[in-house]
Amino acid sequence: MPDVSSPRPRRRFLSRLPLGLAAALLLALPSGAAPAADGLDARIGEGLFRRMWVAAPTATQAADGLGPLYNARSCATCHPRGGGGRPPDPAAEGNDQGDQGVGFAIKLNDDPVYGRQIQSNALLGQIIEGRPGVAYREEPVRFDDGEIVRLRRPAYAVKDLGYGPLAEATALSARVAPRVHGMGLLDRIPEAAIQAEADRQAREGVVAGRPNRITMTSLGETAPRIGRFGWKATHPTLNHQDSEAFSLDIGMSTPAFPDPWGDCTPAQTACREARHGDSKQFEGLEIPSTVIGLIDVYLRSLPPDGGLKASRDKAGGALFAATGCAACHRPSYPVTDGEPGKDAGPTVGTIFPHSDLLLHDMGDGLADDVPMGEARGRDWRTTPLWGLNRLAKDDGRLSLLHDGRARSVTEAILWHGGEAEKALSNFMDLPAGSRKALVRYVLGL
Ligand code: HEC
Ligand code: HEC
Repeated sequence: MPDVSSPRPRRRFLSRLPLGLAAALLLALPSGAAPAADGLDARIGEGLFRRMWVAAPTATQAADGLGPLYNARSCATCHPRGGGGRPPDPAAEGNDQGDQGVGFAIKLNDDPVYGRQIQSNALLGQIIEGRPGVAYREEPVRFDDGEIVRLRRPAYAVKDLGYGPLAEATALSARVAPRVHGMGLLDRIPEAAIQAEADRQAREGVVAGRPNRITMTSLGETAPRIGRFGWKATHPTLNHQDSEAFSLDIGMSTPAFPDPWGDCTPAQTACREARHGDSKQFEGLEIPSTVIGLIDVYLRSLPPDGGLKASRDKAGGALFAATGCAACHRPSYPVTDGEPGKDAGPTVGTIFPHSDLLLHDMGDGLADDVPMGEARGRDWRTTPLWGLNRLAKDDGRLSLLHDGRARSVTEAILWHGGEAEKALSNFMDLPAGSRKALVRYVLGL
């Protein structure tokens, strides 16, 4: 089988950068790094993923444009080593503001003042929007054999709101940063295969996954494409996802999200009027297409932590299917060798992400009342389960589901509702030994 783990970058980005920026990026490489010619773009992209952006103006302009409002100064702050985030721990002794979690953000359904996300940081002289807080209420779930699992039901709030109250109609949706390993392979699943899976589910009627469809209008596109990235599958391409991160999380402009003030609304005048880092040298933006392209190449070069071969735990796989998990966590998809995000090229192999990449109604327990594209409040994209083996090994502490509320695979399963109701009741009916075997299978992916 051809190697699906190392997609080849289609274009070389470094050679298209202004000389000063290319030199600055090369100097920023970790010392002793001797990148192979092919991997050079990925290494530079890694440097950019870790780069701490600063306020404009600076002399070189190569790293400025942060904010004015932002959540974090680098991608890596929220996705440490490409891993995922965790929510604030209300019990933890943090700094005087309490524990802030890692890669944790609160999305809004377009508040007229606060926009689409609460930015919990700001440049000097600007006002912070607020600080996300969470309180948990424990809810025990009892299995027939006596085992008790404690779920924690979250209630979110934003403290110290800097611009007055949120609008009456504004809903909060807390999100943790997902793991980003293997993204490049998800980008190469043909759209037709995802659509065929949705059609099959509609025909068979066990579950009813639908693709999210997003038209990337700011890129001049007029037809929708299937979303694959983000908790509600809101981004058809890795580039679009990475660009939105610059806008909402870091406050920097890119070709896809060209406002230099990021998520600031017209009501936030000081932010709108602040100095920005758009510059002629960089296509009139803070982050030119070359720089975002290098970050895409880096993310594409990150192989998944597993999921390149079928699991060797055949009994676990059979249990996973029999319990109804595989109805949404579809074990495998074909990948092409074409331009990422397009349907071009022949199929070159199979990957095992354990997701259909479709949206499913997951019931009220997980609902957030923040629709995105065609995803409604109760809809979430089936999370790829590959890479859980690495999390389990790292420190055994898990923060699963879109807001990190589940501390174990069992907790994550117990939150499943809506279309997953049947799978949940199958799971509740399993004897303790089989429940353990199923969890072991998932943690081995
Ligand atoms: C403030 C924390 C934060 C920062 C900074 C941040 N991210 Fe994220 N990232 C998130 C969250 C939260 C999500 C989930 C968003 C959603 O779908 O609601 C996410 C999602 C993603 C995804 C999609 C993963 C998936 O499973 O679909 C990618 C890729 C990604 N981020 C890349 C980046 C890049 C590149 C940068 C820097 C330009 C960045 N992120 C900066 C928090 C952050
Ligand atoms: C109806 C579709 C569906 C079925 C059936 C289903 N899941 Fe899920 N699963 C999802 C969706 C959608 C999410 C994301 C929910 C969220 O984050 O709010 C998810 C999330 C998860 C997560 C958390 C992953 C992470 O990294 O956050 C685990 C673990 C999981 N499912 C395991 C299972 C197991 C085991 C079964 C069988 C008992 C199962 N699922 C059945 C759709 C489904």
